[in-house]
Amino acid sequence: KSGYITLDYGFKNTGSTKSAITFLDGEEGILRYRGYPIEQLAEKSSFLEVAYLLIYGELPSQAELDQFTNTIKSHTLVHEDIRKILDGFPANAHPMGVLSSLVCSLTAFYPESITDRSKEQVDLNIVRLLAKMPTFAAWAFKNSMGHPVNYPKNKLDYCSNFLHMMFSLPVEGYEVDPVVSDALNKLLILHADHEQNCSTSTVRVVGSSKASLYSSVSAGINALWGPLHGGANQEVIEQLDAIKADGGNTQKWVEKAKDKNSGFRLMGFGHRVYKNFDPRAKIIKGACDQILNKLGVNDPVLNIAKELEEAALNDPYFIERKLYPNVDFYSGIIYRALGIPTDMFTVMFALGRLPGWIAQWKEMNEQKEPISRPRQIYVGATLRDYVDVTKR
Ligand code: SDX
Repeated sequence: KSGYITLDYGFKNTGSTKSAITFLDGEEGILRYRGYPIEQLAEKSSFLEVAYLLIYGELPSQAELDQFTNTIKSHTLVHEDIRKILDGFPANAHPMGVLSSLVCSLTAFYPESITDRSKEQVDLNIVRLLAKMPTFAAWAFKNSMGHPVNYPKNKLDYCSNFLHMMFSLPVEGYEVDPVVSDALNKLLILHADHEQNCSTSTVRVVGSSKASLYSSVSAGINALWGPLHGGANQEVIEQLDAIKADGGNTQKWVEKAKDKNSGFRLMGFGHRVYKNFDPRAKIIKGACDQILNKLGVNDPVLNIAKELEEAALNDPYFIERKLYPNVDFYSGIIYRALGIPTDMFTVMFALGRLPGWIAQWKEMNEQKEPISRPRQIYVGATLRDYVDVTKR
């Protein structure tokens, strides 16, 4: 007989590991990657530099960053047999499903990634995934548009390359606007890691069975897809559009969110850890105004979002439950201003979270953690004998 079992739905009060990667303080609204405040990294760093920091633990020297960047560039080309997988998807295939399939195909393509845990092999698996994921994400979009795919151009930086692969068309060129690539850089940094959230825990659980990095990240992509997690950014923009179409009466929707029978939640609000403002939401809200002004975009849902936030933050139901805007509340408004379609919003989240998934999978392997296998409280039938079908 084992000792006692603590029942903890959703692991609300369970620490699943010790980690040195990301620090959150939900009460104070603090987020740091390897000790560096997210506010400073979002302002001063680049996505690949943050990826290096999360994965290897320190900010790289210029030489280390150049080497990391160039190694990634040497792996951007994707084998044609992987591109052909795309031909099997209908145009209405959701980009998240295409993305998780293409990432998982790397396990089949590079079987050594399944068993070889040497530092050289793990580092190679990491740069391959960082190099190819933007291409897979852009190809998922092209597949949904019925457009020919673009290949990466190594003369472009990481974010510009993704935008080129997303928006270049044979019939007309596409010039990357630095305002757009800078905005994307900031958004990807803000999504890069977030300790043991649902999708990261999924990457760790799958990886704990010694599954490859690629299979583990593919599983994380599927966990992120859910509307309560990364799928919320798409739900938020659809909700804001619905409120706009309904005449913009934000108080009415706040009331609806309070009515348990409505089955309606204010998407982009609330968080398991943050019982104060999500620091990322603060930064993204600020960036919204700047970026939309720079792009000359006037999206009426931005004001609706601000009014909705104001109404909710002054409502006892939300105040009591400490429900504040989270990372997903404003991000969709920027993605839309950058020309990214709604059904690609969660793909953008996955692109940002990739370094975090990689860092956490790597840390778990280095810490040689046991296979994840929680217990349960059994509440089913007691002992009984089999009854022949003629007697049932
Ligand atoms: C992300 O974990 C992470 O770090 C995730 C993430 C990351 O970077 O990886 O930060 C990214 O997933 C952000 C969250 C995106 N999801 C949404 O915006 C969906 C809407 N939010 C909720 O569904 C909810 O707030 C969660 C899922 C985010 C958190 O859920 P919890 O911690 O399990 O809380 P709960 O569902 O038990 O809610 C507690 C109470 C309940 O009311 P009571 O039963 O106490 O009366 O708050 C209510 C809930 O009904 N509530 C909401 C609400 N969120 C919670 N009521 C209305 N609208 C909401 N959005």
